[in-house]
Amino acid sequence: MVLSPQGYTLETGSELTDDAERLLIESAVRIPSTGEIDRLYVLGLPDRVRRGELSVITLLKGIEPIGIFCYRSVDLEAELVYGCLKPGNEGLERIFMLQILDELSTQGINAVRSSFSGPGADRFAVAALEMGFRKVSRMSMTRRVDESHTFTYKPEPGLNITPWSTNHFEDICRLMYEASEAFDRAVYPLFASPEGCRTLLLSIMQDRHGIFIPELSLVATIDDRVVGFLLSSLIVDGSVLILDIAVDSQHRGNGIGGKLLESLISKSAMLGRRQIVLAVTLDNEPAIGLYRKMGFKQASIFDQYVLELKERDVSRFP
Ligand SMILES: CC(C)(COP(=O)(O)OP(=O)(O)OC[C@H]1O[C@@H](n2cnc3c(N)ncnc32)[C@H](O)[C@@H]1OP(=O)(O)O)[C@@H](O)C(=O)NCCC(=O)NCCS
Repeated sequence: MVLSPQGYTLETGSELTDDAERLLIESAVRIPSTGEIDRLYVLGLPDRVRRGELSVITLLKGIEPIGIFCYRSVDLEAELVYGCLKPGNEGLERIFMLQILDELSTQGINAVRSSFSGPGADRFAVAALEMGFRKVSRMSMTRRVDESHTFTYKPEPGLNITPWSTNHFEDICRLMYEASEAFDRAVYPLFASPEGCRTLLLSIMQDRHGIFIPELSLVATIDDRVVGFLLSSLIVDGSVLILDIAVDSQHRGNGIGGKLLESLISKSAMLGRRQIVLAVTLDNEPAIGLYRKMGFKQASIFDQYVLELKERDVSRFP
């Protein structure tokens, strides 16, 4: 427990008190009726905390919880999945966020990410921008796998698409690092170094980003040289989530990305999967063009806020 100069205390842990759970439920009730999916999502958070998937940070005034954030941390990066303040405490977003950053720093976290949603989210987003978070607009896309699609690709001669094998681990780390674009590094700082890519790939294989199914992750080779890959996992609702796709810069525009997706769609259908989902940075025109061509449709646009804690200006925001 940490006491702030303003007299608020912060509690962090893996358990939800009854009062803190009530705070979450009451915020779900305030979500407008048009946001039924969002409401169900928030109502499901207490169970996710109980299953150990999420941790909680609670802001207390005396012994009363007045703010809560649920978060998950993977690879020393924290994602604030949902947070709210009790009505009447608007204006405390900045104090709450500052304390959260302090707490996560002491846990050794390197980067904090959130797409702030729910009642009062706008105020948290403003506070985050004031604190130096960068905003990156992203698009979520989906594709039903039972829809028919005419594939028109004539990929490079000699191209082989094979399921994931650990033999390709080092080649994929290298390609993941070399192919990542600045706008993706802005959201996922791990892409910015070979070690970060290795950490990410290991945690994908350890099911930290959904359940890793080797058949649904693919490697493209020409003459035994890795020229592309696609990584995906299964998520809670049964969808296949594309985690990353990349093609060596020398081989782009030759149909390899399309062929990887075509294989994923066919294999997903064979495994009885009904939907493929992904999120892509709005600036990534090649990837969005590829996904659209392969039948993916826009589901939503959202803003992701990201702060690398080493970039935090503690002199301005002590
Ligand atoms: C996105 C990426 C995987 C595409 O791979 P690719 O092998 O070059 O793609 P393909 O040759 O199969 O192209 C298929 C379609 O994608 C779209 N596309 C590909 N490159 C494009 C570009 N530079 N601009 C716009 N659309 C593009 C086109 O619709 C293209 O169809 P067309 O050739 O009939 O016009 C590749 O650009 C890449 O590795 N980018 C860096 C990593 C990345 O951003 N990954 C996405 C993470 S979400």
